[in-house]
Amino acid sequence: MNEVQKDRVSTRRLLLRPFLKSDRAAVLDLFSDARTMLYWSSEPITSLEEVDDRIQQEIDWHSKEKCFNWAIALPDSNQFIGKICLFQFNEQNRRAEIGYVLNRKHWGKGYMSEAMEFLLAFAFGELDLHRIEADTDPENLPSLALLEKFGFQREGLFRDRWFVHDKWHDSVMLGLLQEAWNQRQEKPAVRKGA
Ligand SMILES: CC(C)(COP(=O)(O)OP(=O)(O)OC[C@H]1O[C@@H](n2cnc3c(N)ncnc32)[C@H](O)[C@@H]1OP(=O)(O)O)[C@@H](O)C(=O)NCCC(=O)NCCS
Repeated sequence: MNEVQKDRVSTRRLLLRPFLKSDRAAVLDLFSDARTMLYWSSEPITSLEEVDDRIQQEIDWHSKEKCFNWAIALPDSNQFIGKICLFQFNEQNRRAEIGYVLNRKHWGKGYMSEAMEFLLAFAFGELDLHRIEADTDPENLPSLALLEKFGFQREGLFRDRWFVHDKWHDSVMLGLLQEAWNQRQEKPAVRKGA
């Protein structure tokens, strides 16, 4: 992937780009929302100081060679509305994990499906990954619906994998193989540009 593409990707309705320091207020709006953070692996952010640290971490993360950590923005306003990432790369075994979150005001518009469509095509195509993994809470129905829509299969339940929000949370581990993705592209089951 060339650096220009890593720094700026356009889908039908979205812009994927690195986090910006100017995303401060929008990052706080998303990551301070308890409902959005309900199944996230860390606590909601509560102060602008935390936001600054968080944005710097997100920028540093994206600048690593094997980490793709895009902010999702609306192209006309460049307004930050979420993130999608590919991380935990394992070169030998050609696998990585995905993560994603969207501001609650924009749920249910097909935005994450649109970002995911790009990410999976990129990961299995350009990066030639063999397997992509996802770790989600069994009660996180929107996340499970999103993953299963793209062909991810539930592979196991890991009990008490995360301690967050004052209690233990299980994880459903899901996986999608390159071969299955390629077969779906030949006979697409997913609405293009959903
Ligand atoms: C998971 C999340 C990213 C989904 O984003 P989104 O843009 O609303 O998802 P989409 O609109 O693209 O919907 C994807 C699919 O999930 C389904 N879906 C969405 N919300 C749903 C819900 N509450 N219950 C059941 N299915 C749901 C949609 O119907 C759609 O399938 P379809 O196209 O076949 O109808 C969003 O809910 C979110 O940010 N949640 C909080 C963060 C989070 O939990 N991240 C995952 C951590 S592992």
